[in-house]
Amino acid sequence: MTELDEKIQTGFISAINGTLIEIKGLEKSVKLHELIKISYHNILGEVIQIYSNHVVAQCYENTNNLHLNESVVSLQEALSMELAPGLLSNIFDGIQRPLKEIYEGIKHSGFLQRGIEVPSLSRTKKWHFKPQKKVGDKVFPGDVIGEVEETPLISHKIMVPHQISGEVVSIVKEGEYTITDEIYLLKTKDKEERMTMLQKWPVTKSRPFRARIKSQKPLLTGLRVIDLLFPIAKGGTVAVPGGFGTGKTVIQQSIAKWCNADIIIFIGCGERGNEIADVLKEFGNLIDPQSGRPLLERIVLIANTSNMPVSAREASIFSGVTIAEYYRDMGYDVAVLADSTSRWAESLREISGLLEEMPAEEGYPAYLPSKLSKFYERAGSVKTIGLTGVGEEKIGSISIIGSVSPPSGDFSEPVTSTTKRFVQAFWALDASLAYSKHYPAINWFDSYSNYPEYLSDWWFERDIDWQEIDYNWYQCRREVNDILSKENELLNIIQLIGEENLPEMEKLDIFIGKIIRESFLIQNAFDPIDAFTTVEKLLSQIKLILLLHKESKELIQQGFIIEDIKSLAVINEIMRLNISIPNQEFLKILSIKNQLIREIESLKLISGVRKKV
Ligand SMILES: Nc1ncnc2c1ncn2[C@@H]1O[C@H](COP(=O)(O)OP(=O)(O)O)[C@@H](O)[C@H]1O
Ligand SMILES: [Mg+2]
Repeated sequence: MTELDEKIQTGFISAINGTLIEIKGLEKSVKLHELIKISYHNILGEVIQIYSNHVVAQCYENTNNLHLNESVVSLQEALSMELAPGLLSNIFDGIQRPLKEIYEGIKHSGFLQRGIEVPSLSRTKKWHFKPQKKVGDKVFPGDVIGEVEETPLISHKIMVPHQISGEVVSIVKEGEYTITDEIYLLKTKDKEERMTMLQKWPVTKSRPFRARIKSQKPLLTGLRVIDLLFPIAKGGTVAVPGGFGTGKTVIQQSIAKWCNADIIIFIGCGERGNEIADVLKEFGNLIDPQSGRPLLERIVLIANTSNMPVSAREASIFSGVTIAEYYRDMGYDVAVLADSTSRWAESLREISGLLEEMPAEEGYPAYLPSKLSKFYERAGSVKTIGLTGVGEEKIGSISIIGSVSPPSGDFSEPVTSTTKRFVQAFWALDASLAYSKHYPAINWFDSYSNYPEYLSDWWFERDIDWQEIDYNWYQCRREVNDILSKENELLNIIQLIGEENLPEMEKLDIFIGKIIRESFLIQNAFDPIDAFTTVEKLLSQIKLILLLHKESKELIQQGFIIEDIKSLAVINEIMRLNISIPNQEFLKILSIKNQLIREIESLKLISGVRKKV
């Protein structure tokens, strides 16, 4: 760097306004969104406005004790994520500072120092790299060069970075390397490039892919109300709005634990500090149900508490989705869980206020919708660029599930209503359900999903065959919806005329509606058996309830009354099977079904005897 270059890239602070600083001397050289560093304190910031005689930057750390005229250097790059082995099991803040290392620092010095410089990913840790290419191979962006077992659960594919292609001139042997060791040398068009395992990617730019594909596979959550009534596809988008205490965090955590994505990116956004600590503790102890290994081995946590600076919070959801895209490019299914995007939107509002921008609805900036859509549009199921180590195509997906916490639970407020425009499924949490301990408090009338049509074949292939009842998954959905709407209508009528005055057939609808709600929709996240329901158990369970409905209708047509049905011993078994039958023993539901048939037969028999007498 010549002396002249250095001059152009250095400026000085000319004004300080909260986390915003005004800088003179950089206006000719910096570009929007590039990073700056306040040199003496080592504080990072991002250029957000450029004028003819100054620029404005927002700092990622607090700006107390800064002075006018302190020097500022331009780093000439946008906020980027470091992408390499070491992401999984790690906890970062919104600008990818590793929190474990930072907290070690706090323990040491007693407080969170500003400007501490810890690399996002360890430079000294060695990884076991296995090459999958050899000298002379031609490689293109996204091609897998080799792999590293990042954790026992996940093989990390080392890919050729974007915009680089060429011929492999040399590649290291299988062995232990750090992420900055040279592992291969590429002859590109005009030079030879030394390549390491580490790549960088700016957080606001989505990583390219070859083509979007329509996913026909569900992101299974293990939550019955979701997997049956409001399912999402891999690559889908969902908003989970709900007031305080309606169960957003519990839903997000259940999905992190149980869903069938390969990798989870959990973004805890601006919730209270102790809540994040709880989340970390919670995740630290969890065991992956499929592998029996610590769940953290397939999770990246991004934590932003409300006492972290707003700009770092604002970055966090884009940081998270950038890491998600990187794993998607390896061919993995990734789930991004953001809890809650309202805290994130509030940080936008705060910065916008500082900038004295013209506010739109409720003080949020006019660009709230465009920011939200930029986040959600990075979801999807794609054919990635590049090929696997053995030359096959890679398919990966990112599903985004964002919770929204509207103040006082009002869904017409800007963040909820804007988010609704960009997502394909909506799980509306209902305070009155939560209040009556109906969890997950997903309101079945206000929620929706646009995915069922795409998923029905997948479910059809996994259907369980019961000759007594021939509904498939899609038909079960329809039946359940019918019963619940019928129940709802009747509950309104009952308030006027009382249940005893309803015809028996309608009493049956109310009874079955109650069974569906209490034994199927309600699911206790803290019960080891109930917390998660597999496809087989879900189908058996709902078919059993619908079979009870079908048989009971016949009984009532034959003159039986609802009390006869309520007195069947099997009802108790049906109500209990959430907690009495573990997923892997779902075949036991067959014997409950047989018990149901037997009890109904004997009911008919007794009544036949009764009639004769
Ligand atoms: N599925 C569930 N099963 C049992 N209890 C639940 C469930 N979901 C929520 N709860 C209860 O509700 C409380 C609040 O949930 P939480 O997810 O923290 O709400 P929010 O994040 O919306 O403020 C939890 O601490 C728990 O007691
Ligand atoms: Mg919460």
